[in-house]
Amino acid sequence: MKEPLPPRDVQQSKDLKNAPVAVFDSGVGGISVLREMKRLLPHEDFIYFGDARNTPYGEKESVALRALIFGHAASLLARAKALVLACNTATAVAVKALRAAYPNVPIIGMEPAVKPALAVGNHPRILILATETTLREKKLKALLARYNSHATFLPLAAPELVRLIEAGKTDSPDLDAYLAALLAPFSGNPPDAIVLGCTHFPLAASAISRVFSDTVPLFHGAEGTAKELKRRLTSANLLNEQIHLGTVTLTASDSAALPRYLSLFSK
Ligand code: DGL
Repeated sequence: MKEPLPPRDVQQSKDLKNAPVAVFDSGVGGISVLREMKRLLPHEDFIYFGDARNTPYGEKESVALRALIFGHAASLLARAKALVLACNTATAVAVKALRAAYPNVPIIGMEPAVKPALAVGNHPRILILATETTLREKKLKALLARYNSHATFLPLAAPELVRLIEAGKTDSPDLDAYLAALLAPFSGNPPDAIVLGCTHFPLAASAISRVFSDTVPLFHGAEGTAKELKRRLTSANLLNEQIHLGTVTLTASDSAALPRYLSLFSK
């Protein structure tokens, strides 16, 4: 596979610690991760990029998607010292190839919160909600295979959920109706935990939780990803040492999405 490599201007700078961290998702989902990173690393500067023009990623074919992600990663890494793929789908499809192409750059991906779901309480049946692409890729299959002696995993794609969340319908009758139909097969026998394996889904957490009358705990990977970013920046000696609070710059491939990113980030 031939992928374009970036102009490495920032990577060559003596001032790399002061460069921002780039955070990337297909759309609004990564804002849930960005908020957690900003909380844990208040002195870092962040550039967020949502690929609003090409969302949803979860129904795209993997090779084309990987090429799209490489293009965005190249332009983000021309300005940033590290890249967070705040998108389970992008991680499943491209994190390995990106790390191989940029071996000296911290590249952090999402991991569906299977470990946290197993660590807290007894959860023998765990529903894994993710995109079709994430469910199809080897990365998630390998994660589930590693833990399948601890629990039964029930993987389920929820493509319409991404679209409804992108459209801002996080609390809407349409979303409730979609979730009721999607999760109806579990109504007589609810799972013991739900892993939100797509960064969009925490934005609809209340609606998902309501389907099972708030009795089933939800797990997502935002906190784990923020901790991993801190670990990676620390070990690479790349933590920003500025004394004032860092900045957050929100960008998108379709600027019509920006007001929504801003309102979710400021919540
Ligand atoms: N937010 C993304 C994820 O975590 C993908 C949503 C999509 O574009 O399909 O998987």
